Order: sequence, then C-alpha cells, then structure tokens
Amino acid sequence: MKRKGIVLAGGNGTRLYPLTKAINKQLLPVFDKPMIYYPISTLMLLDIRDILLISRPQDLETYKTLLGNGQQWGISISYSIQESPNGLAESFVIGKDFLKTDPSVLILGDNIFYGDGFSSKLKDINCSKIGSHILGYPVKNPNRYGVIEFNKEGKVIGIEEKPKYPKSRYAVTGLYFYDNTVVDRVMSLSPSSRGELEITDLNNLYLKDNLLNVKLLSRGMAWFDTGTHESLHEASSFIRSVEHRQDMKIGCPEEISWRKGWISKENLINLASSLKKSNYGEYLLRIIRT
Ligand code: DAU
Repeated sequence: MKRKGIVLAGGNGTRLYPLTKAINKQLLPVFDKPMIYYPISTLMLLDIRDILLISRPQDLETYKTLLGNGQQWGISISYSIQESPNGLAESFVIGKDFLKTDPSVLILGDNIFYGDGFSSKLKDINCSKIGSHILGYPVKNPNRYGVIEFNKEGKVIGIEEKPKYPKSRYAVTGLYFYDNTVVDRVMSLSPSSRGELEITDLNNLYLKDNLLNVKLLSRGMAWFDTGTHESLHEASSFIRSVEHRQDMKIGCPEEISWRKGWISKENLINLASSLKKSNYGEYLLRIIRT
C-alpha cells in the first residue's frame, strides 16, 4: 500500500484579485516557476509518485499543458474537476476512486514548504498507516488559519477554523496525511455555515477518535501560503534570496526526479534543452555538469 497524493488547486482566489481574475491562483509565478511546482515537488520529496490534481473545469486543460501526465518527471499525474469551491475536504469525495483503499496525503496548491531535511523529518509520518497527521507552524496572524488548541499539558484538544480569538499561535499547514478511513469520514461531514466541507471538521473527527497526530514544525523550516498579495510577494522574495545565494533551486521537479533516479541523465538533458533560454533551463544543464 503506497500513499497517494492529492493536490487541490482550485478555488477562485478572490483575495488575490485582480491577479486571479483570469488565471487560476496556482498558475501564478512564485519567483521563477508556477506556484503548482512547489506542492508537486513537496510530494515528490516525500516519494509520492501517484498524484491526483484537482482544479476548476476552466483550468484543467492549462494544467495538462503545463504538467502532462507527469511521466517526464517520473511520476503519474491524473486530473479531476471540482465544480465549485465546496471546501478542502471535498478532495476526498472527488478523489475516492483514485485513492481506492490507499492512505493519502493532501497538499493545498498554494502551500510552500522549505527546510533542511524536510522529507526525513516527515519520514515516520509518511510511513504511518493509521490515523491522521497534520503539521503545526507558529505564525503572527493565526486567525487567518486553522488554529490548534492545546491544554496545559501540551496535548491537542481542538482545532478551530479562522477563530476570532485564536487559542494558540500554531496554524495548521496545508499538508495533511490520512489513513484509508478518510473517505468514509468525509462522507459523514455536513457543510459548514459557509457552505464548505471543512478540513478542520475532518481533523476534529480524527481527534475525537484519538487518531489525530500533530507535529510542530521547528524554527528551521519555512512554510508559506500564498493567499494574499503580501504573502505571495514574501514567498517569491524568499525563494529568490535562497536560490540566488546558494545557486540551488527550491521546488524544481526535474531536479528532484533526476536526483531520486526516477529519470535518466539523458531525460534531464532533454527537459533542460527545451527550457535552455531561461535561467531555469540553464540551471538544469549546470547541475548535470557539476
Ligand atoms: O494554508 C493552510 C490553511 O488552508 C489552513 O490553516 C486552514 O485550516 C484551511 O482551511 C486553509 O485555509 P485557507 O483560507 O488558506 O483556504 P483557502 O480557501 O484559501 O483554500 C486553500 C487553497 O485551496 C487555495 O489555493 C484554493 C484551494 N481551494 C479551496 C477551496 C475552499 C480549492 O481548490 N477548492 C476549495 O473548495
């Protein structure tokens, strides 16, 4: 049983208007590559090679043009439509046939993770087949997120979606690991007052059954969501600074695939050649040589 990945890349991105009036948010650039490259790279770093991308009907063809069936990166990408933004947990209703009885990981298309040893830090979680695992990250503005509540002993006792008065500064990130009971659990949810199947309600269901595990990410990890103009700019400028200083790319699927041995050197040269007029393509040619 191999864990399967779902990337949720729909939504209307209204908080980014007018940027997203004609373009799906996850196709916007984050410095030198489309935003969607980052969550896909995150899944690849976790050795997840069977991926379902969910987006709006009008954007699916664009995603297919950009990403194809994933074979060029040694992975498989299939596609499904979300007719309207009915909530993050709807991913599992849409992805039911894709998941079958396998455990899953859901990543939001606007979430970017970066840090030394990221995948090794999540190795135990990734291998676990029981319950759900979510990640907590301290932020300055928790009321924009799902927020984790702890008791005095530090035990998680609840998660609240965008609370007016957050009970901690720990936000739930958009990377969620679930066992194979997730679809049944989602089926038992009802839409919230804003009409969405809430991921927070799903996580609270796992918590009620004592099956929710929360890992707090440490200082050395960077996590961005790119939901506002400010956070989108911040993410771009962070990526630019690190890439510029180290001459190493963040969220580069071609490189990850090659380093993992999923594609050959010849494959990488071919991919790089088609991009060679850009810095991105030059970088790929450079890593082959060094
Ligand atoms: O980024 C982490 C946060 O993501 C969590 O802390 C929150 O608990 C969770 O609800 C979510 O909050 P957001 O306010 O960021 O969710 P948003 O509605 O912006 O959706 C996140 C991404 O998912 C966005 O890129 C659009 C996409 N989306 C969203 C919904 C509701 C869909 O593709 N379909 C949907 O139905």
